[in-house]
Amino acid sequence: MKLLFLNGVNLNMTGRREKGVYGTETLGDINAQLERFCKDRGAECEFFQSNIEGELCTKIQQSDADGIVLNAGAFTHYSYALRDAIASVPTPVVEVHMSNVHAREPFRHTSVISEVCRGTVLGFGKMSYFLAAESFLL
Ligand code: DQA
Repeated sequence: MKLLFLNGVNLNMTGRREKGVYGTETLGDINAQLERFCKDRGAECEFFQSNIEGELCTKIQQSDADGIVLNAGAFTHYSYALRDAIASVPTPVVEVHMSNVHAREPFRHTSVISEVCRGTVLGFGKMSYFLAAESFLL
């Protein structure tokens, strides 16, 4: 089992931006914990972050992972390109958000990718990533 943890726009700022919303741990800290989590369960993992929409689409198209855990950041709310990329591959994708987007600004209440994802985990801070990973590893 191989998992790809894919993070989109501004997620490289995790731990430095809006700490009250996204926490104080960096994406590197969280990824190191996810790597251990996967290893302990006999799974391989890969990490990729980009602020560029097309790079995320290409990564999805070229991935050899068995499952993708995706926090698309703000692309979630308007990227039809990302939605089409997810729909174009057989690899299951679980959508993740650290914050409870439904308790925030109205523009965050819409996800254009949910419909083509296997499921969504949101509102549990960094644990959202672990819970999504668990859905593939159980
Ligand atoms: C986010 C929520 C998005 O609305 C926001 O644009 C992000 C992070 C989250 O993890 O809660 O960048 O995906």
